[in-house]
Amino acid sequence: MQEISATVPDWSRERVRKFYDPSRQLLRQLRGYQRSRTHKGWLRPLRTGWYVFWYRVWSIVTGAEIDLNAPIGGGLLLPHPNGIVIHPEAVIGPNCLIFQQVTLGTGGRIPGCPKLGGHVDVGAGAKILGGVTVGDHAKIGANAVVLDHVPEGATAVGVPARLVLARPVGSEQTKTWSAV
Ligand SMILES: CC(C)(COP(=O)(O)OP(=O)(O)OC[C@H]1O[C@@H](n2cnc3c(N)ncnc32)[C@H](O)[C@@H]1OP(=O)(O)O)[C@@H](O)C(=O)NCCC(=O)NCCS
Repeated sequence: MQEISATVPDWSRERVRKFYDPSRQLLRQLRGYQRSRTHKGWLRPLRTGWYVFWYRVWSIVTGAEIDLNAPIGGGLLLPHPNGIVIHPEAVIGPNCLIFQQVTLGTGGRIPGCPKLGGHVDVGAGAKILGGVTVGDHAKIGANAVVLDHVPEGATAVGVPARLVLARPVGSEQTKTWSAV
Protein backbone atom coordinates (compact mmCIF):
# COMPACT_ATOMS: atom_id res chain seq x y z
CA MET A 1 0.00 0.00 0.00
CA GLN A 2 1.34 3.42 -0.91
CA GLU A 3 2.24 5.66 2.04
CA ILE A 4 0.45 9.01 2.09
CA SER A 5 2.97 11.86 2.30
CA ALA A 6 3.06 14.09 5.34
CA THR A 7 4.88 16.82 3.42
CA VAL A 8 3.92 16.82 -0.27
CA PRO A 9 0.27 17.82 -0.80
CA ASP A 10 -1.73 15.51 -3.04
CA TRP A 11 -4.01 18.06 -4.68
CA SER A 12 -6.06 15.32 -6.38
CA ARG A 13 -7.68 14.72 -2.96
CA GLU A 14 -9.35 18.14 -3.28
CA ARG A 15 -10.33 17.94 -6.95
CA VAL A 16 -14.00 18.81 -7.49
CA ARG A 17 -15.62 15.82 -9.24
CA LYS A 18 -19.04 17.30 -10.06
CA PHE A 19 -20.91 20.52 -9.31
CA TYR A 20 -22.58 19.16 -6.17
CA ASP A 21 -19.42 18.16 -4.29
CA PRO A 22 -19.89 20.31 -1.17
CA SER A 23 -16.68 19.85 0.82
CA ARG A 24 -14.40 20.07 -2.21
CA GLN A 25 -16.34 23.09 -3.50
CA LEU A 26 -15.86 24.74 -0.11
CA LEU A 27 -12.11 24.08 -0.23
CA ARG A 28 -11.93 25.29 -3.84
CA GLN A 29 -13.44 28.66 -2.84
CA LEU A 30 -11.11 28.91 0.17
CA ARG A 31 -8.04 28.17 -1.98
CA GLY A 32 -9.24 30.63 -4.64
CA TYR A 33 -9.78 33.35 -2.05
CA GLN A 34 -6.34 32.85 -0.50
CA ARG A 35 -4.74 32.99 -3.98
CA SER A 36 -6.75 36.06 -4.99
CA ARG A 37 -5.49 38.02 -1.97
CA THR A 38 -2.01 38.02 -3.50
CA HIS A 39 -3.23 39.26 -6.90
CA LYS A 40 -2.74 42.88 -7.90
CA GLY A 41 -4.89 45.15 -10.04
CA TRP A 42 -8.46 46.30 -10.32
CA LEU A 43 -9.87 42.79 -10.77
CA ARG A 44 -8.76 41.75 -7.30
CA PRO A 45 -11.87 42.93 -5.38
CA LEU A 46 -14.10 41.23 -7.95
CA ARG A 47 -12.17 37.98 -7.66
CA THR A 48 -12.11 37.96 -3.86
CA GLY A 49 -15.81 38.93 -3.74
CA TRP A 50 -16.66 36.04 -6.08
CA TYR A 51 -14.80 33.53 -3.91
CA VAL A 52 -16.26 34.92 -0.67
CA PHE A 53 -19.79 34.63 -2.10
CA TRP A 54 -19.35 30.98 -3.12
CA TYR A 55 -17.44 30.18 0.09
CA ARG A 56 -20.50 31.38 2.04
CA VAL A 57 -22.87 29.36 -0.14
CA TRP A 58 -20.86 26.14 0.39
CA SER A 59 -20.40 26.91 4.09
CA ILE A 60 -24.19 26.97 4.44
CA VAL A 61 -24.56 23.78 2.44
CA THR A 62 -21.88 21.90 4.38
CA GLY A 63 -22.61 23.38 7.80
CA ALA A 64 -18.85 23.64 8.28
CA GLU A 65 -17.17 26.64 9.85
CA ILE A 66 -13.69 26.89 8.36
CA ASP A 67 -12.15 30.34 8.40
CA LEU A 68 -11.28 31.77 4.98
CA ASN A 69 -7.77 32.59 6.18
CA ALA A 70 -7.11 29.30 7.95
CA PRO A 71 -3.62 27.95 7.12
CA ILE A 72 -4.57 24.56 5.68
CA GLY A 73 -2.09 22.34 3.85
CA GLY A 74 -3.10 20.96 0.46
CA GLY A 75 -4.82 17.61 0.04
CA LEU A 76 -7.35 17.99 2.86
CA LEU A 77 -10.18 15.45 2.77
CA LEU A 78 -13.53 16.24 4.42
CA PRO A 79 -15.71 13.24 3.45
CA HIS A 80 -18.73 14.41 5.51
CA PRO A 81 -18.11 18.08 6.29
CA ASN A 82 -21.13 18.84 8.47
CA GLY A 83 -20.42 20.41 11.82
CA ILE A 84 -16.67 20.80 11.34
CA VAL A 85 -15.35 23.87 13.19
CA ILE A 86 -11.78 25.04 12.64
CA HIS A 87 -10.37 28.02 14.53
CA PRO A 88 -8.78 30.65 12.22
CA GLU A 89 -5.38 30.10 13.87
CA ALA A 90 -5.41 26.31 13.84
CA VAL A 91 -2.75 24.89 11.52
CA ILE A 92 -3.41 21.82 9.38
CA GLY A 93 -0.60 20.04 7.54
CA PRO A 94 -0.81 18.45 4.09
CA ASN A 95 -3.01 15.42 3.29
CA CYS A 96 -5.04 15.39 6.50
CA LEU A 97 -8.46 13.75 6.77
CA ILE A 98 -11.15 15.25 8.99
CA PHE A 99 -14.52 13.61 9.59
CA GLN A 100 -17.81 15.22 10.60
CA GLN A 101 -18.38 17.13 13.85
CA VAL A 102 -14.68 17.70 14.51
CA THR A 103 -13.58 20.84 16.36
CA LEU A 104 -10.07 22.29 16.31
CA GLY A 105 -10.18 25.14 18.78
CA THR A 106 -9.04 26.87 21.94
CA GLY A 107 -9.93 26.11 25.52
CA GLY A 108 -7.80 23.12 26.42
CA ARG A 109 -5.05 22.77 29.03
CA ILE A 110 -2.44 24.37 26.80
CA PRO A 111 -3.05 27.95 25.66
CA GLY A 112 -3.34 28.50 21.92
CA CYS A 113 -4.67 26.57 18.94
CA PRO A 114 -4.00 23.06 17.65
CA LYS A 115 -1.31 22.36 15.10
CA LEU A 116 -1.75 19.22 13.02
CA GLY A 117 1.20 17.73 11.16
CA GLY A 118 0.93 16.05 7.78
CA HIS A 119 -1.33 13.08 7.05
CA VAL A 120 -3.23 13.24 10.33
CA ASP A 121 -6.61 11.43 10.35
CA VAL A 122 -9.18 12.86 12.75
CA GLY A 123 -12.18 10.61 13.53
CA ALA A 124 -15.80 11.72 13.67
CA GLY A 125 -16.73 13.95 16.60
CA ALA A 126 -13.18 14.42 17.88
CA LYS A 127 -12.27 17.67 19.61
CA ILE A 128 -8.67 18.87 19.60
CA LEU A 129 -8.39 21.74 22.03
CA GLY A 130 -5.66 24.24 22.91
CA GLY A 131 -2.11 24.63 21.69
CA VAL A 132 -1.44 20.94 21.17
CA THR A 133 0.66 19.56 18.35
CA VAL A 134 -0.34 16.37 16.58
CA GLY A 135 2.58 14.69 14.85
CA ASP A 136 2.74 13.46 11.26
CA HIS A 137 0.77 10.27 10.44
CA ALA A 138 -1.07 10.35 13.78
CA LYS A 139 -4.68 9.16 14.17
CA ILE A 140 -7.30 10.63 16.47
CA GLY A 141 -10.16 8.28 17.35
CA ALA A 142 -13.83 9.07 16.93
CA ASN A 143 -15.14 11.27 19.76
CA ALA A 144 -11.71 11.70 21.37
CA VAL A 145 -11.00 14.88 23.31
CA VAL A 146 -7.33 15.72 22.78
CA LEU A 147 -5.82 18.02 25.40
CA ASP A 148 -2.12 17.10 25.14
CA HIS A 149 0.48 16.64 22.42
CA VAL A 150 0.21 13.54 20.24
CA PRO A 151 3.53 12.22 18.90
CA GLU A 152 4.22 11.31 15.29
CA GLY A 153 2.53 8.09 14.18
CA ALA A 154 0.55 7.69 17.42
CA THR A 155 -3.13 6.86 17.82
CA ALA A 156 -5.06 8.80 20.48
CA VAL A 157 -8.51 7.73 21.71
CA GLY A 158 -10.95 8.51 24.49
CA VAL A 159 -11.87 11.37 26.80
CA PRO A 160 -9.43 12.78 27.66
CA ALA A 161 -7.39 11.18 24.91
CA ARG A 162 -4.80 8.51 25.74
CA LEU A 163 -2.32 6.95 23.37
CA VAL A 164 -2.74 3.38 22.17
CA LEU A 165 -0.61 1.28 19.89
CA ALA A 166 -2.51 0.21 16.81
CA ARG A 167 -3.20 -3.53 16.81
CA PRO A 168 -0.78 -5.27 14.46
CA VAL A 169 -2.59 -7.32 11.81
CA GLY A 170 -3.42 -10.80 13.19
CA SER A 171 -2.57 -9.85 16.78
CA GLU A 172 -4.95 -10.09 19.72
CA GLN A 173 -2.97 -7.64 21.84
CA THR A 174 -2.91 -3.89 21.88
CA LYS A 175 -0.24 -2.28 24.05
CA THR A 176 -1.26 0.85 25.89
CA TRP A 177 1.19 3.72 26.10
CA SER A 178 1.42 6.01 29.06
CA ALA A 179 -1.32 8.63 29.19
CA VAL A 180 -0.82 11.57 26.86
C1 LIG B 1 -8.79 5.39 16.53
C2 LIG B 1 -8.89 4.38 15.42
C3 LIG B 1 -8.26 4.96 14.13
C4 LIG B 1 -8.10 3.18 15.90
O1 LIG B 1 -8.13 2.16 14.98
P1 LIG B 1 -7.09 0.93 15.15
O2 LIG B 1 -5.69 1.40 14.96
O3 LIG B 1 -7.58 -0.17 14.27
O4 LIG B 1 -7.18 0.56 16.69
P2 LIG B 1 -7.93 -0.66 17.42
O5 LIG B 1 -9.31 -0.84 16.86
O6 LIG B 1 -6.98 -1.80 17.44
O7 LIG B 1 -8.12 -0.06 18.90
C5 LIG B 1 -7.02 0.14 19.76
C6 LIG B 1 -7.58 0.45 21.14
O8 LIG B 1 -8.22 1.74 21.09
C7 LIG B 1 -9.61 1.61 21.47
N1 LIG B 1 -10.36 2.50 20.59
C8 LIG B 1 -10.35 2.52 19.23
N2 LIG B 1 -11.09 3.53 18.77
C9 LIG B 1 -11.60 4.16 19.87
C10 LIG B 1 -12.43 5.29 20.02
N3 LIG B 1 -12.89 5.99 18.99
N4 LIG B 1 -12.73 5.68 21.29
C11 LIG B 1 -12.27 5.00 22.36
N5 LIG B 1 -11.45 3.91 22.25
C12 LIG B 1 -11.13 3.50 21.03
C13 LIG B 1 -9.96 0.14 21.24
O9 LIG B 1 -11.02 -0.26 22.08
C14 LIG B 1 -8.64 -0.51 21.64
O10 LIG B 1 -8.55 -0.50 23.05
P3 LIG B 1 -8.01 -1.77 23.86
O11 LIG B 1 -6.58 -1.91 23.45
O12 LIG B 1 -8.17 -1.37 25.30
O13 LIG B 1 -8.85 -2.92 23.42
C15 LIG B 1 -10.37 4.00 15.09
O14 LIG B 1 -10.91 3.16 16.12
C16 LIG B 1 -11.27 5.21 14.96
O15 LIG B 1 -11.84 5.76 15.91
N6 LIG B 1 -11.43 5.67 13.68
C17 LIG B 1 -12.29 6.79 13.35
C18 LIG B 1 -13.19 6.36 12.21
C19 LIG B 1 -14.28 7.38 11.94
O16 LIG B 1 -14.42 8.40 12.56
N7 LIG B 1 -15.10 7.05 10.96
C20 LIG B 1 -16.18 7.92 10.56
C21 LIG B 1 -16.73 7.37 9.25
S1 LIG B 1 -18.11 8.28 8.73
